[in-house]
Amino acid sequence: MEIQTIILAAGKGSRMKSDLPKVVHQLAGKPLVQHVIDSCQLMGATHAHLVVGHGADLVKHSVKGGAVEGKHIELSFSLQEEQLGTGHAVKMAFDNLKDDSPTLILYGDVPLIHHETLAELVDVYNNNPTGIALMTCDLDDPTGYGRIVRNDNGEVTGIVEHKDSTEAQKSINEINTGILCCNSTSLKDWIGRLKNDNAQGEFYLTDIIAMAVDDGNKVETAQPNNLYEIEGINTLKQLADLERVWQRTLADQLMDKGVTLRDPNRFDLRGKLTCEAGVIIDINCIIEGDVVLKKNVRIDSNVTLINSTIGENSHVKANTIIEDSLVESNCGVGPFARIRPGTHLHNKAQVGNFVEIKKVTLGEGSKAGHLSYLGDAEIGKNVNIGAGTITCNYDGANKHKTIIKDGAFIGSDSQLVAPIIIGANVTIGAGTTVASDVNDNALCISRVKQKHIDGWNRPVKK
Ligand code: UD1
Ligand code: CA
Repeated sequence: MEIQTIILAAGKGSRMKSDLPKVVHQLAGKPLVQHVIDSCQLMGATHAHLVVGHGADLVKHSVKGGAVEGKHIELSFSLQEEQLGTGHAVKMAFDNLKDDSPTLILYGDVPLIHHETLAELVDVYNNNPTGIALMTCDLDDPTGYGRIVRNDNGEVTGIVEHKDSTEAQKSINEINTGILCCNSTSLKDWIGRLKNDNAQGEFYLTDIIAMAVDDGNKVETAQPNNLYEIEGINTLKQLADLERVWQRTLADQLMDKGVTLRDPNRFDLRGKLTCEAGVIIDINCIIEGDVVLKKNVRIDSNVTLINSTIGENSHVKANTIIEDSLVESNCGVGPFARIRPGTHLHNKAQVGNFVEIKKVTLGEGSKAGHLSYLGDAEIGKNVNIGAGTITCNYDGANKHKTIIKDGAFIGSDSQLVAPIIIGANVTIGAGTTVASDVNDNALCISRVKQKHIDGWNRPVKK
């Protein structure tokens, strides 16, 4: 069965004290509302209709639909110019709703709802297709949330907002998470009948619960397995707290799969991390995008890995950044190395401290141990790049390529002015500026003759 979703994301989020619309703030490297979209998609929803208002364009540009794990979701946007309440917001999406499939309603500021939990709610709906399936939760401190009112038979009869509730109702612990699923034709009818005669003068979505019951329908509930799933973000502090809870959850999942985390409380995953056996990750690492760590990879402290793969037995040492690159097996990288996009380190390559590399292939067993800039280069096997070597790849207008063939030895503090080809087994003397191609097996050295002036009188300070 096709499921369409409405995600409410028009609110300003004034309590965030930020110019950014609330739902665009990031959790685990992703906008809050994108988490909701992704969960809908994984659950199998085909459409998400976002209701936007504050910062509408920013919200639109910060989200994407498309395919995740073989499932496809399409996004559409409706503008709610004035925020007249959650019920009014849902109405804005009506033009996009198909009557013949049910609608699941979610809030853009409740990011961590699991797709399995949503699927359970849809199951509850399927067993009660004329009524409403409502996600509720029991909280020790229900302050601020809408409360679920039940009759003596335990049947849901309505929701009362905190601000509209009596003292007796305030002691109800079962709260409204805001997430519900119902028939789309009935939804349109109920929403059309909403009034705003309440404490906030808003059209409350929650009032459709009592209407559905009055019409003779049942409201059935489902509850999530984890509290964090239904936690809403209203302040930056809540955002930071939820980030920690989520990071710890991700860390626990990795440890369950056999990844050693030196301190799971100092680990940040902002994307997808796939690890083989024996991986060890030290503290304060940041993993972004799609990262793969093969068998026995060691990642030392303060390392940032972005969209990269690290091969078997390779060791990434402290304070290294690797982005959009491939490091093969048995490599050593860092400490303090910066591996920029398009780099490929072959088996047993070594890159040491204060080396910056961009769009470079470094062949098997080749080494750049210290203080170098290598850009736009193809470097063969068993090449030694001396300390301070620089590929001069930019002439002020265009980038040019450096090719260094197998077995070359580049002496320290050399400049290689690209485009240039350094032949196999070439030796470049230390301090050489190489400006034209060097044939295989040659020695290339450019040095002014060394002068000695004996008994030199150094200037003295006046
Ligand atoms: C709402 C529920 C409350 C529930 C709580 C759960 C109503 C009336 N109340 O209260 O029962 O316990 O969520 O977190 O629904 N929004 C719009 N347009 C509007 C108003 C809101 O798009 O005109 C969006 C907001 O951007 C937000 C979501 O709807 O994403 C919820 O709105 P918010 O004002 O935060 O509702 P709560 O007061 O938290
Ligand atoms: Ca409100």
